[in-house]
Amino acid sequence: MLDVTGLQKIYPGQHGDVEALRDLTFHLGDGELACLVGPSGCGKTTLLKCIAGLMRPTSGSVELAGEQVTGPPRDMAVVFQEYGRSLFPWLRVRDNVELPLKEKRLSKARRRELSDEALDAVGLLKSAGAYPWQLSGGMQQRVAIARAIAYEPRVLLMDEPFAAVDAQTRADLEDLIRTLWKRFSMTVLFVTHDIDEAVYLGQRVLVMSSSPTIIQDDVAIDLPDERDQISTRGEHRFAELRTRIYAEIRNASQPQEAGKQQAAAAE
Ligand SMILES: Nc1ncnc2c1ncn2[C@@H]1O[C@H](COP(=O)(O)OP(=O)(O)OP(=O)(O)O)[C@@H](O)[C@H]1O
Ligand SMILES: [Mg+2]
Repeated sequence: MLDVTGLQKIYPGQHGDVEALRDLTFHLGDGELACLVGPSGCGKTTLLKCIAGLMRPTSGSVELAGEQVTGPPRDMAVVFQEYGRSLFPWLRVRDNVELPLKEKRLSKARRRELSDEALDAVGLLKSAGAYPWQLSGGMQQRVAIARAIAYEPRVLLMDEPFAAVDAQTRADLEDLIRTLWKRFSMTVLFVTHDIDEAVYLGQRVLVMSSSPTIIQDDVAIDLPDERDQISTRGEHRFAELRTRIYAEIRNASQPQEAGKQQAAAAE
């Protein structure tokens, strides 16, 4: 579904260039839920912008279902890091959710149907008539998620979407993502710097090195598909996976070393 090949991004600057991404290659199959972790500033947002067609990579390519991404693809939705700024304060919740659907030229009745379904899925149907600023942070983030799923994307990209909500809301939203992922059969790429969150949510965790960035490891999360905040996080295997990823991120400061280790591990 998604093929990222040899992706490099260099930001030109007055005081020298910044090589945010060096050489990223990975593949996401149709319907996969993968998490991407890496230290702050390693280029996670840069990568998502390249995948979403919002930014041109310096070299390498992004393909969606075999087609080169050169601009925002129709089948993709993105939930950004700063949800506060991603909703329009002067539009009611429902109108925020329906806004991208207008571009799809859907009928009013169909737009309504999709927004009802999405708001219901995130538990906010009753707030359809409210303004975003009347809602709590966690509710606003659910509106952003509803807007993304109402669009019926085949691929959903999320950039640290729960960074600014409290622990309980965050746990609820994590479970919501897994429920929606199964229900709508989307391919999901979920960016986070929280290793526990990545292990809890993903079928796979891609580990990024620090800048200049490569994909340092690709860890299969072999936990049972039915996840539960208390029992899954208490499993021995959960602790093993998280320890492995923690150690890798700690060693991530030497991308060349990491590359050598990866090559050695592959042999
Ligand atoms: N528009 C830009 N111009 C120049 N440099 C940039 C730009 N955007 C990002 N960078 C640099 O590229 C690197 C990667 O930034 P990016 O925002 O992609 O990281 P990130 O992994 O998303 O960080 P965080 O975890 O803090 O969200 C950083 O060194 C950053 O300073
Ligand atoms: Mg970021």
